[in-house]
Amino acid sequence: MPFCHYILAKKLTINQDKYIIINVMKIGNLEIGGYAALAPMAGVADRAMREICRSFGAAYTVGELTSSKGVSLGDRKSGSYLACFDDERPFCSQLFGSEPEIMADAARHAAKFNPDFIDINMGCPAPKVAGNGGGSALLRNPVLAGEIARAVVNAVTLPVTVKIRTGWDSDSVNAVEIAKRVENAGAAAITVHGRTRKQMYAPGIDYKTIAEVKRAVSIPVIANGDVCDGESAKYMYDVTGADFVMVGRAAMGNPFVFEQINAYMKDGTVLPPPSMEMRLQTMLKQIELMLKYKEPHNALMESRKHTAWYLKGMRGAAGLRRMCGEISSLDDIKVICEKALEGNRDL
Ligand SMILES: Cc1cc2nc3c(=O)[nH]c(=O)nc-3n(C[C@H](O)[C@H](O)[C@H](O)COP(=O)(O)O)c2cc1C
Repeated sequence: MPFCHYILAKKLTINQDKYIIINVMKIGNLEIGGYAALAPMAGVADRAMREICRSFGAAYTVGELTSSKGVSLGDRKSGSYLACFDDERPFCSQLFGSEPEIMADAARHAAKFNPDFIDINMGCPAPKVAGNGGGSALLRNPVLAGEIARAVVNAVTLPVTVKIRTGWDSDSVNAVEIAKRVENAGAAAITVHGRTRKQMYAPGIDYKTIAEVKRAVSIPVIANGDVCDGESAKYMYDVTGADFVMVGRAAMGNPFVFEQINAYMKDGTVLPPPSMEMRLQTMLKQIELMLKYKEPHNALMESRKHTAWYLKGMRGAAGLRRMCGEISSLDDIKVICEKALEGNRDL
């Protein structure tokens, strides 16, 4: 049987119960066991990726960033982001906006889809979000940030969390003030990405400010930024005192990062890198799920970046990446797998 048919026929093992989870975070009445959550990543962390990451031990997942205005205007695309499914639970819907009443309405609408909790984005730097007063722009308006949190908390019975950056820029690092205000407004947890809005994704995480937020509030704090394996997760826990960590970019083409973190946090085990077969099997599974959940053309276009991420670091990666950039059918992906295997059989 050709390799690709063989790996597609095999069922992915679900690793959830492989490690005894000893860390539990309470978000309102919701108990979340584990060590690391999958970060929201618009255009990347779709339903397929969320399910795959959960199957490798991500403790919870966050949905696509949804415009509160879009929801209130009945925009179909915005509404479709709010659907949630059992394989990605615990699941959180994420909303952005700058008007408390519209955010409250959107939260009521989101709650109808039965997510486990709702997150308010106060960190997104994108012009179409921050340019309209939402996302990271709220860091410049702590009073409004608190009002939005209160409006959403009062609108739904679900727990409400907030995700922030450390501040707008290095002259206005105000994560502690924002955290206190949203806690006061009834938020059940806060995620802090250890960079300012101005830093975007520039190297360097401000662990000190995350630690200050942790000391300043009594709700759980989820620390985020540059966690990429067991050791960096433990470092993040140790230096910030946070209750949980959240992983974004390191999970791209690498859902294995969650089982690596779980193993390391539990007893210091450093898992070996996933086998070639596991990498390709998981990649194909994710693309299959994308094809199942999305319009096929969109799924294939989007599969180009996901496959390139999965193949990173393999021998012949440059040639493989070129092939990924031209994917237009599932067969193309199978050819890429065969080619990758040919050059990396020993891995
Ligand atoms: C492509 C991409 C899309 C993102 N989209 C969102 C988003 O929709 N909502 C959000 O709160 N953060 C978003 N983020 C920020 C991440 O959630 C996370 O805070 C950031 O990547 C830092 O974590 P990391 O160093 O583990 O990647 C995005 C990041 C990336 C790279």
